[in-house]
Parts: sequence; C-alpha cells; structure tokens
Amino acid sequence: MSFVTKVLRRGLTTSALRMAAIKHVTVIGGGQMGVGIAQVAAQTGHQVTVVDQSEEILAHSKLSIERSLSRVAKKKFGEDLKAAESYSKSALSSISLSTDALATVTKTDLVIEAIIENLQVKQELFSQLDKVAPQETIFASNTSSLPISDIAISTERRDRFAGLHFFNPVPVMKLVEVVQISEQSDATFQSLMDFSKSLGKVPVVCKDTPGFIVNRLLVPYMMEAIRLVERGDASARDIDTAMKLGAGYPMGPFELADYVGLDVTKFIIDGWHEKFPDNPLFEPSPLLDQKVAQGKLGTKKGEGFYPYGKK
Ligand code: CAA
Ligand code: NAD
Repeated sequence: MSFVTKVLRRGLTTSALRMAAIKHVTVIGGGQMGVGIAQVAAQTGHQVTVVDQSEEILAHSKLSIERSLSRVAKKKFGEDLKAAESYSKSALSSISLSTDALATVTKTDLVIEAIIENLQVKQELFSQLDKVAPQETIFASNTSSLPISDIAISTERRDRFAGLHFFNPVPVMKLVEVVQISEQSDATFQSLMDFSKSLGKVPVVCKDTPGFIVNRLLVPYMMEAIRLVERGDASARDIDTAMKLGAGYPMGPFELADYVGLDVTKFIIDGWHEKFPDNPLFEPSPLLDQKVAQGKLGTKKGEGFYPYGKK
C-alpha cells in the first residue's frame, strides 16, 4: 500500500478503528525519563504504575516525581499553597510503584518502556511482557536511538507496537515523536496520537529511522561539539556560551549532554557507529568514552563535563 493510500485510508477509517481510550499506563524504568512520563500521565488523569528493579530505586523515583510535581504545582497555583498541595497529592495518588513488571501488565492499556538503551535487554523485557499482557495492550518504547522494529520483533504484537519518544525534561518539553513501523495498525497509531494529545503534548509522526527526527539532528551536533574540544579548538564553556548566545539554544551542547546523560549519549553513538561505520557523524569519541569510564555520567551522577555537586 502506498504511503498516500495509507494516509487516505487512515483518514477515512480513523473513527471505526479507534481503540478504547488509554486509562492505565505502565511505565517500565523509573529513571530520568520514566518518572517524567509517569508524572505527566498522572497529572492528566491517567492511572500509572512505575516499575523498576528495586524498592530503593523506586523510592528515588518517587522523590523525583514529588520534587517535579511541586515545581509544576507552584507554576500553576503560585501563592495558593493549598491548591498546589492538593494538585500534587491528587497526581501522586494516581501513581503506584512496583518491582513486578509481569504482574503489573496483566491489567494495563499501555506499556511505555524507558529502561537502559540496550537492544537485547529491551527485547528480553518485551518478550516476557508479551506473554502475559492482554491482547489489546499497546507496547511502546521510549528508545532514543534503537530501531523500533528490532525491539518489536521480540513480540507477537507488532501491530500494537510503536516508538513513543518523549524529551527531557518530560514535564516541560512539549514534543512526542510517535514512531511507526510497517506492521503497526492504524488503530494503534491513532490511539497513541490521542494519548499524546491527552498528555498535553504535541505529537509528530516519524518513520523508524536512526534518531527519528530530533536525535538525528541533536546527537551529531553534540558529538561535533565534543570533537571541537578533543581537537583543542575551543573549551566546553566557550562552546556552550557560543551556542546559547549566538544561536539562542537554551543549553549549550555540553550542558545538554550532561542533562541527557553521557552514558545515554554513548549508547546512542556507539550503536549507530556499529551499524553505520562509514558515517563520520556517528564516530565515537575518546573524550566521551573516558567520562563514562570514570562514572561521570552527567547531572544525574553529580558530574559530567561539569561538576554539579552530590545527587
Ligand atoms: N519538572 C518540572 N518542571 C521543570 C523541570 C522538571 N524536571 N525542569 C524545569 N522545569 C520548569 C521550571 O520549574 C521552570 O518553570 P517556570 O518557568 O515556571 O519557573 C521552567 O521549567 C524553566 O526551568 P529553570 O528556570 O529551572 O531552568 P531553565 O530556564 O534553564 O530551563 C530547561 C531548563 C527547560 C531544561 C531548558 O534549559 C531547556 O529547554 N533545555 C534544553 C532541553 C532539551 O533540549 N531537551 C531535549 C534533550 S534530547 C532528548 O530528550 C531526547 C533523547 O532521546 C536524548
Ligand atoms: P536512566 O538510566 O535514568 O533510567 C533507566 C531506569 O531503568 C533505571 O532506573 C534502571 O534501574 C531501570 N531499568 C533498567 N533495566 C530495567 C528492567 N529490566 N526492568 C525495570 N527497570 C529497569 O535512563 P533514562 O535517561 O531515563 O533513559 C531511559 C530510556 O529513555 C533509554 O532508552 C533512553 O535512550 C531514552 N531516552 C532518554 C532521554 C534522556 O534525555 N535521558 C531522552 C529520551 C529518551
């Protein structure tokens, strides 16, 4: 079917194909992205369960959600402390925590995976979930860089599988990339577009290509900045100042890399380099490798290209 025919068909049959609205969301991975996705879903009236590997990690996830919620509430209600507290309380009461992904997905409309950026680990997770989740449950990955079709292949529900790519910090960034794969049903696509809008986000449609839209542009830009420093052409500070004051970016590339996580950035570039070794935009960086080997993973660990103090 041609792309145009598919789009026309989608337009004509959307209402007939609409699935029941998503009410319960399971977010797997309570790290930087997972907590943001869970928070926004809870703020917009969804029931949410966050799953991670230990109670200790989940306690940290809860703390992050509470902190972020209080920032959102303060912005929404200003000096009205009572209203702000009641807003935060209500959102928090919609979020539960679990270390048992298999038990959680037996009753959920949508699974959003936000775990480590590793194909094999994501495949193993989805393959297990696929065996116990209800037929109609949609699976989505928040991967930054892995092909959605390579993750979906581990399941028998490729028609109900998508990329749902959020941006950091999720409570602030308005965009969601909805990534299509060839087997994806129109109903799944429509349901995820509707869900993204229900979160107050603006969805864009992407093909399943490396980095989709944003990261295909943003990651080579951050890597090129690191290469400038490696060559001794300019300092990280000056490059950040230059891009903020000369190009109007809210953060310079080193601040952004620290914010995204240097481990995440390394996973992305190493994966693309392995797949496309001749593309100079995807060359790994010794400086980035060194930072990651030293455990300097960015803001989440208190140090990356810059020091941030204890986390
Ligand atoms: N939760 C809730 N609210 C938050 C927040 C969080 N985690 N982080 C920031 N905010 C809110 C603040 O409360 C503040 O609200 P007010 O305007 O009402 O005061 C507002 O956002 C701005 O925050 P700050 O004043 O603390 O700081 P800032 O003005 O420097 O903005 C920023 C911070 C929004 C992060 C901004 O620097 C920015 O937009 N940076 C670029 C982020 C970006 O490019 N993200 C994409 C990364 S790539 C990605 O995510 C994809 C991938 O796969 C790797
Ligand atoms: P993170 O390291 O902050 O969090 C990952 C979490 O997943 C950790 O809490 C970890 O304990 C948990 N986890 C790992 N394996 C698990 C498993 N099998 N079951 C349950 N939990 C598990 O990472 P992050 O920055 O939140 O990134 C998560 C995903 O989102 C990655 O695929 C990343 O590429 C993508 N992403 C990241 C950003 C970003 O700016 N950091 C932006 C968009 C997308």
